Amino acid sequence: MRINRAAPDLFEIILRHLKEAVVFADDRGRIQIFNPVAVKFFKVKEKQALGKRFERVIPYKIIRKQFDSVYEHREGHHDIELAIHVPAVSEEEARLLRCGFYPVFDRNEIFIGCLATFADITEKGLLSREISQSKDLSTIGMLARWMAHEIRNPLSSLNINIELLRDELREEIHLAQKEEIESLLNFISYETLRLENNLKEFLDFNRLPPLKFEWVQLNEVLDSIVRLLRPDAQMKNARMEVHFQKKLSLVKVDVSQINLGISNLLINSVQAVSERGEIHLFTRASKKNVFIIIQDNGEGISKEHLPKIFDFMFSTKPMGSGLGLSIAKKIISDHHGDITVRSEMNKGTTFRIRLPLSPKMN
Ligand SMILES: Nc1ncnc2c1ncn2[C@@H]1O[C@H](COP(=O)(O)OP(=O)(O)OP(=O)(O)O)[C@@H](O)[C@H]1O
Ligand SMILES: [Mg+2]
Repeated sequence: MRINRAAPDLFEIILRHLKEAVVFADDRGRIQIFNPVAVKFFKVKEKQALGKRFERVIPYKIIRKQFDSVYEHREGHHDIELAIHVPAVSEEEARLLRCGFYPVFDRNEIFIGCLATFADITEKGLLSREISQSKDLSTIGMLARWMAHEIRNPLSSLNINIELLRDELREEIHLAQKEEIESLLNFISYETLRLENNLKEFLDFNRLPPLKFEWVQLNEVLDSIVRLLRPDAQMKNARMEVHFQKKLSLVKVDVSQINLGISNLLINSVQAVSERGEIHLFTRASKKNVFIIIQDNGEGISKEHLPKIFDFMFSTKPMGSGLGLSIAKKIISDHHGDITVRSEMNKGTTFRIRLPLSPKMN
């Protein structure tokens, strides 16, 4: 690392110990800092990197493009997720990097180069990233409410049955352990009552925020989802492409919920495709509706499973919870829209969503 000699060793020590890769290229694009993690990510020795132009050192086009953009526009970008394929011992290994690219200016505001940082977030997993990124935590809020509902319904039938049992017991005059059974029953009904009250409180105070409708340009909303999920497709060497209808009319939706619903569909597509898979996202409009079509050429869904895929907790995946599609369906029906699916085994799956331009229109 060639750092100003006057600067203490501290800089060097910090750079050596950072868990992130740090690369700095000067105003002419020549690399001046290339820390050990960068050596690991880009499989280039520090000595070979220093002094060379970044294009010759960084083996990934998607990263070079980000450097180019800083040199061209002198503007930074951060929190960009990029998938790279690192040559490993056997095949290549896909890693997901969260990157930042920053123009650096000296005291006189003269541009002196581009600083880039890269953190490996491969292990963080899609869902945890999705949840941490959905700022209003609507996934968790929705799940929690859902669970509360799911517990509440059997609970009320449990209560009724306890009362029936109590009545039966009253009539059993000669039963030996009558008192003991009665006290056990009291205990059960006390506990169910407690649970019911807690749930009621939870449902009253922890309401999912009511749908916040606003007029939005749907293409832009979808574009931001795709930007977030595209790296996951790239990790599998799959493509995610958008085909938006130009001049799409504005729609009145709850952006964060639509975000959640569409993300769930796209995540399923990413999971369904294999090497060289393709995922296409279309928008179309009619007078009263917009249509979102998500098409993949993944493994498809069998005829037997197809009628069940929207069911709560139906999943064919070893680690799946079976919530994605039921959440998506609920969100779309809250918007007075609908969702349909066509699928063929080993050919692919197409989901079609209809959303009225404004929920009051239908
Ligand atoms: N694009 C798709 N291609 C193939 N199968 C799909 C696709 N989308 C959904 N499925 C099937 O529908 C099932 C239910 O999907 P859903 O998103 O509700 O749950 P999951 O993906 O299994 O789990 P979770 O989304 O909660 O992580 C999946 O397990 C899978 O069998
Ligand atoms: Mg899913």
